[in-house]
Amino acid sequence: MYTEKVMEHFTNPRNVGEIADADGMGEVGNMKCGDIMRIYIKVNEQDVIEDIKFRTFGCGAAIATSSVVTEMVKGKTLDEALEVTNKQVAAELGGLPENKLHCSNLAADALHKAIEDYRNKRVAEKSNLKETGK
Ligand code: FES
Repeated sequence: MYTEKVMEHFTNPRNVGEIADADGMGEVGNMKCGDIMRIYIKVNEQDVIEDIKFRTFGCGAAIATSSVVTEMVKGKTLDEALEVTNKQVAAELGGLPENKLHCSNLAADALHKAIEDYRNKRVAEKSNLKETGK
């Protein structure tokens, strides 16, 4: 059975949508069920996640975990956000049924990928600046 918090996030998910000019985007899929989760982040000069949105094409547990992970890291630095684990996401929801635990594996992974995407872009930008001498 799902906890009340899972049901609440499933029926009233936070931060749903896309960020058109996102600084980073992470996408992960679950091979078993074919579900897909995308997380978009907007990062400020202090490396803080200013805005975060998600699109999840998946089950109720996947939607609830995406929703709760966005709440957990909004306003956090990238390093703090990288410390969030899939286990913590499930715990934040008061746990998930054993056969649904794999669904929570998407949330932190998608978040970490979005951060990686952002950092890769920053490195690419910096080396472009060096090459063009700007
Ligand atoms: Fe696919 Fe939950 S059944 S993520």
